[in-house]
Amino acid sequence: MTQDSISSSQTPRHVAIIMDGNGRWAQNRGLPRAVGHRKGVTALKNAVKFCKRRGIPILTVYAFSTENWQRPATEVRFLMELMKRTFSTELEELHREGARIRRIGDTKGLSDDILHMWNEAEARTADNASLLLNIAFNYGGRRDIVLACRQLAQLAAAGTLQAEDIDEDVIQNWTMTRHCPDPDLLIRTAGDMRVSNFLLWQIAYTELYVTDVLWPDFDDDTFAQALADYAKRQRRFGRLNDTDSE
Ligand code: FPP
Repeated sequence: MTQDSISSSQTPRHVAIIMDGNGRWAQNRGLPRAVGHRKGVTALKNAVKFCKRRGIPILTVYAFSTENWQRPATEVRFLMELMKRTFSTELEELHREGARIRRIGDTKGLSDDILHMWNEAEARTADNASLLLNIAFNYGGRRDIVLACRQLAQLAAAGTLQAEDIDEDVIQNWTMTRHCPDPDLLIRTAGDMRVSNFLLWQIAYTELYVTDVLWPDFDDDTFAQALADYAKRQRRFGRLNDTDSE
């Protein structure tokens, strides 16, 4: 089967990506890490267009984790500035592509101008329906779960929620991705076999795909390979296949 003949039922509805390897990409070329991050923005724009062409309606990318604050202050500053610059130069193109931008992540720790920028981007693209682009920024999977627990505890303390009514759907409804289904496919670039505190609740049954390709080199072919691999997977969600004997 060619990659282009994969039927839509085999196409993931929601792809999540850990965009790793910007630093290594730059260092391999004797360039500052910042160059790798800039190249990473180009790779992200390309991935957005690819999703649109291939009929993938939801893309969630890990742009800045709760742990990334521990990087050197100059790199943190650069990533914040890059985010601002990217929105000022690329937002209109993303808007024309029909992408609806949503930030997922904690607001605590983000400066007012960064928050303002996110709010503007979300408002500008709010009516777009070609692609939902969730950008995880100041995001951590554990933080996501902690904040959901806190909300539930407050409801319980106020008497509006009974402990025995808390189930998986209730928790899901308080996660930062409550507006979309769980990812079908999680891609990680740059070869490391870990999930790095990304979408921990949401990836319970997500298919994982790790490629050695560094994020700035992630192109249509690499994305298509991930989709072709996904199309071969048998998703059982903990059950047996119909054809499995007892
Ligand atoms: C991981 O590479 C990448 C990041 C921490 C930043 C990801 C950001 C972008 C792709 C660009 C900005 C995104 C938007 C939405 C504007 P790394 O630095 O950990 O690479 P390394 O593991 O090789 O050091």
